[in-house]
Amino acid sequence: MVAAHRSCPGYVEEPFASLVAEYPGVEAYPADDFRVEWGPVFHRGRLDGSARVLVLGQDPATHEAISRRVLVGEAGQRVQGMLARLGISSSYVMLNVYLYSVFGQAAGYRHVKDTAIVDYRHRWLDAVLLDSQVTAVLALGTLAKRAYGHWASSSPEREARAGGLHLAAVRHPTYAEGSARASGQPLEDTTAAQLADWSAHLPELSAAVAPEVTPNPRPYGESWAENDLVAIPEQDLPPGVPAWWRAVDAWAVRTGADAQEKRSTIRVTVPKGARQWPTL
Ligand code: URA
Repeated sequence: MVAAHRSCPGYVEEPFASLVAEYPGVEAYPADDFRVEWGPVFHRGRLDGSARVLVLGQDPATHEAISRRVLVGEAGQRVQGMLARLGISSSYVMLNVYLYSVFGQAAGYRHVKDTAIVDYRHRWLDAVLLDSQVTAVLALGTLAKRAYGHWASSSPEREARAGGLHLAAVRHPTYAEGSARASGQPLEDTTAAQLADWSAHLPELSAAVAPEVTPNPRPYGESWAENDLVAIPEQDLPPGVPAWWRAVDAWAVRTGADAQEKRSTIRVTVPKGARQWPTL
């Protein structure tokens, strides 16, 4: 018998059904600063109240635009690996600061306090944090830390809830690549710095989360090791998506001869290891 497949049920219950029905578009997210043409990407993980950790990322990239869930590409697999160290295999929920992919890092900073963007983000944060089992928030990068802090100080109810949550504000999962590009430092050095930062947060974060399976909050090495990245669970993605969408090999890249073409094109390629057809 074929094993039963699991998949994300989507946005069927309130308040999530209304949240996805009422998402903001270009009136809130200007098209010169956000890739609105690829549509909003809302979340990944549990919306049934069972989440123990909230992961707050920044904005969706190519793998997320195609799979319609946040933190699916390499950044997501690094985070999934961190959750595995905490002994968390399914009881998490992930959101991004922005629904749409930021066009240029400066745009991310420009809009983090825009009222329409913030109000909608706060509705999601209320939905997953108020009256929930979440005990810890993992904020990925500066924007996520800022966005969470803004929510936490924006009403007495939110402030009281945040007071009972552990906040681990770590470097963004692709900090090393971005920082090496911007500073000219070797990628090995920025990777070691990122992993040292993640290792430093692990003990307190682990103490703040009730594990589902045996935790192993061992520190990271100076470079990524094979088991540091974990594939995205099948139950996190919409029904019927191919298994290679969840695996570590990159399969979605922006391509194009100029900026216009690149913004309009994501090339999706079946990785070699996932080609099941007979080859010559
Ligand atoms: N993908 C996301 O959805 N969020 C990030 O922060 C990075 C990649």
